[in-house]
Amino acid sequence: MRRLLVTGGAGFIGANFVHHWISSHRGDAIVVLDALTYAGNMASLEPVSRHSAFHFIRGDVCTQGLAAELLRKHDITTIVHFAAESHVDRSILGPDAFLQTNILGTHELLKAARQVWLEERKGEGIEARRFHHISTDEVYGSLASSDPPFTETSPYAPNSPYAASKAAADHLVRAYHHTYGLPVTTSNCSNNYGPYQFPEKLIPLMLVNLLDGRPLPVYGDGLNVRDWLYVEDHCRAIDCVINQGAAGQTYNVGGRNEWRNLDIVRFLCSLMDEAFARDAALRSRFPGSPAATGRASEELINFVRDRPGHDRRYAIDASKVERDVGFCPQETFETGIRKTLDWFLNHEPWWRGIMNRSYGEWIQRQYQSEHRG
Ligand code: NAD
Ligand code: TYD
Repeated sequence: MRRLLVTGGAGFIGANFVHHWISSHRGDAIVVLDALTYAGNMASLEPVSRHSAFHFIRGDVCTQGLAAELLRKHDITTIVHFAAESHVDRSILGPDAFLQTNILGTHELLKAARQVWLEERKGEGIEARRFHHISTDEVYGSLASSDPPFTETSPYAPNSPYAASKAAADHLVRAYHHTYGLPVTTSNCSNNYGPYQFPEKLIPLMLVNLLDGRPLPVYGDGLNVRDWLYVEDHCRAIDCVINQGAAGQTYNVGGRNEWRNLDIVRFLCSLMDEAFARDAALRSRFPGSPAATGRASEELINFVRDRPGHDRRYAIDASKVERDVGFCPQETFETGIRKTLDWFLNHEPWWRGIMNRSYGEWIQRQYQSEHRG
């Protein structure tokens, strides 16, 4: 039986991970530590909130002593560290919070694990403990179109403050293994999409804008490439690494699924047109959508000023995680995107709740005066 401390469990991937773990590891206990920043949402944990194995603590990973107290109190065997500032555009406008949470917050957790697991417990049962750190492919920088995908040995070359802060955290995690013998693993994943994703990231932003008839802001020429993975597949990959990965190792996780942004936006438009043609009720639920009056959703596509330092292409070579821990994605992009669209259609109160909070200020700031036709 494992006792997990999941940081950032009220965020997009963290909440999906908590759902995954509770349904597939009966008997294990989960403590979520989350500061509930703008990106954290208790509504994403509602389906598990009354489960006897689930415990929620509102708190900041940067708070000295908090993580150590939780490790002792709940005799935590496994730390799964998602908590982070995660949006590149926000890191460009204000990097400080990224350095604070992503670097110093990760270091607080590492210190706590070292103190409690290695010093106070004198390493007793250490082979059954694990600190798993969730990172990103963005630490490797940008690829040209002809470059091979990133492997675990690709050099680090982070280009945004977000990527730099995650790279720094990865190095600290590595150092705590090599210096103190902390049993760590790290996974560097490509772009995720799916249920509960905050509508500031490309796919959910496009979905909610399509439904409300707002412009679809495509940065630059729209030809930047990302490698997309359905979030539940990412959660399964983390599970495989925690259970079968070797301490001290890093694993690249991806879907072998490269798409240009503009092609994704067009694909979402066609799925939306199809959904409205099939289901008459959508027309009265979302009257602002072009599809409600039989117009093509693509009319909303709007090219805007490019992101500063915008990485051209990310792609992951997932051979190691497939070979060493037996991970294999279950969704294709087509099935995953259809599930995601259905989820957003069926969970309007979830995303409406976010849109009605202070989120509107961010949209104003990020997208105002950016339209260029
Ligand atoms: P998210 O922004 O949706 O959620 C982050 C969560 O962390 C929120 O619940 C927030 O309240 C919490 N949090 C933020 N600062 C905190 C602090 N100081 N203390 C405690 N909790 C805090 O992020 P996400 O998309 O779910 O990403 C989770 C992790 O996965 C991050 O580490 C991110 O770098 C990594 N990652 C994300 C993607 C992606 O496509 N979303 C891809 C690869 C890696
Ligand atoms: P995003 O979802 O922010 O993830 P990341 O920057 O971590 O890859 O963006 C995915 C891609 O979509 C990226 O190339 C930037 C682009 N993008 C837009 O074109 N318009 C938008 O409004 C957003 C949020 C992103």
